[in-house]
Amino acid sequence: MLWRRRYCCTHVTRLLSLLSLLVVLVILRHQDWLPGIKGPTLRRENPVAYTEGGLHSKDKRNHSSSQIQWRDAPVPPAPPKMNANLSYRQGDSSPQRVMGLESSLATNASLSGEVGLAGLLTSEPYPYIINEPNKCWEGGPEPLLVLLIATEIQQVEAREAIRQTWGNESVVPGLVRLFLLGVKEGEVGRLQQSRLETESRRHHDIIQQDFMDTYNNLTIKTLMGMHWVAAHCPGANYVMKTDSDMFVNTEYLVQKLLRPKNQPKRDYFTGYLMKGYAPNRNKNSKWYMSPELYPSDRYPTFCSGTGYVFSGDLAGKIYRASLGIRRLHLEDVYMGICLAKLRIEPTPPPNEFLFNHWRVSYSSCKYSHLITSHQFDPNELLKYWHHLQRNKHNACINTPND
Ligand SMILES: *[C@@H]1O[C@H](CO)[C@@H](O)[C@H](O)[C@H]1NC(C)=O
Ligand SMILES: *[C@@H]1O[C@H](CO)[C@@H](O)[C@H](O)[C@H]1NC(C)=O
Ligand SMILES: *[C@@H]1O[C@H](CO)[C@@H](O)[C@H](O)[C@H]1NC(C)=O
Ligand SMILES: *[C@@H]1O[C@H](CO)[C@@H](O)[C@H](O)[C@H]1NC(C)=O
Ligand SMILES: *[C@@H]1O[C@H](CO)[C@@H](O)[C@H](O)[C@H]1NC(C)=O
Repeated sequence: MLWRRRYCCTHVTRLLSLLSLLVVLVILRHQDWLPGIKGPTLRRENPVAYTEGGLHSKDKRNHSSSQIQWRDAPVPPAPPKMNANLSYRQGDSSPQRVMGLESSLATNASLSGEVGLAGLLTSEPYPYIINEPNKCWEGGPEPLLVLLIATEIQQVEAREAIRQTWGNESVVPGLVRLFLLGVKEGEVGRLQQSRLETESRRHHDIIQQDFMDTYNNLTIKTLMGMHWVAAHCPGANYVMKTDSDMFVNTEYLVQKLLRPKNQPKRDYFTGYLMKGYAPNRNKNSKWYMSPELYPSDRYPTFCSGTGYVFSGDLAGKIYRASLGIRRLHLEDVYMGICLAKLRIEPTPPPNEFLFNHWRVSYSSCKYSHLITSHQFDPNELLKYWHHLQRNKHNACINTPND
């Protein structure tokens, strides 16, 4: 009897706890549907540097149109909300804090890492293997926009697709396109190198320096682009750094961002703003940052490396600033640190949905009103680009999904 009673009660208790667990699960699941909690960054580990040219990261998501509702005219979606449980915190990234950090990075004499002291102090740390010193002039003496596109040697198709689409220099007057590359080692690397040189002779849109082309050297690659603009194209009005797996609406970028009369011509830096992010301290993460390399618990505001735009004067300023700052491997974070040193705060874009570091589901209406969308392979790029060209003039007039 006693045994039966006890059995019965433990049984009931178990049942009860199971039930409450179910309730909790249902609530958690429900949270997913609450507006403002669901957002593209929700599933990201620590959104810092998303990609390297064409790396096609595991994050092959397709952000459904539920995110952004477009009617006849573009309607701003709710800004993506951050999940409090992610490994960053929103909050104080006051200039003083950041400045303190930056100077500690800069004054630390043990500038270790892959870039030695000598490399930091010369103005051209890695020799150019392929350069296009006269390229700038093709876009007029002061080109409107220089596109710096991070790519890897084997991404021949991606480069070809970009030349035929958003990187086509006839898309807007005053456009200059350049692909940024490092070198690959080994037999395969040598073979690819000779093909690259042929490609370069044909298109004259490749610059390459003698550093190992790896994810961790992306900062070096971007600084090569900054150096090129400063040295060979100082009159450029604007520069965009982006990746080879991006969709860029060059025409809209110019129309919306660069042409307006009151547009700042100096100290201007914009893109998808990342504000108040903390370094990822998980050693297994692609975005891991060791406390030794970066002791502060907050990054300065930076722009997602998938695509940012800045005034031409900043190329030289950032490059010079970088000579005194230890080169961290997360290139977008690093640019933010350089800007903090220059006391320049990135400007928020005119609206929240121009720069997307995820993939926006395609419709010609949406794509005629955005600047970047992420994760395109060359065939998709060609397909969507051509669709957009055919439909851009009445993209939002008919059904929203045109
Ligand atoms: C929240 O963070 C904790 C601690 O880092 C982790 O164990 C847990 O899995 C996270 N939960 C979600 C839903 O991400
Ligand atoms: C420089 O950084 C190293 C760690 O990377 C640290 O041990 C050293 O104390 C720092 N030096 C200064 C002057 O801050
Ligand atoms: C670039 O665009 C022009 C004008 O639309 C076109 O004639 C040319 O073929 C394009 N270039 C490439 C490489 O597709
Ligand atoms: C580039 O990256 C590789 C591997 O991450 C590293 O060994 C090398 O020292 C880095 N720097 C240069 C200048 O190649
Ligand atoms: C996104 O996913 C939906 C279904 O979930 C699919 O119909 C659509 O083609 C996808 N869009 C892109 C751009 O991949």
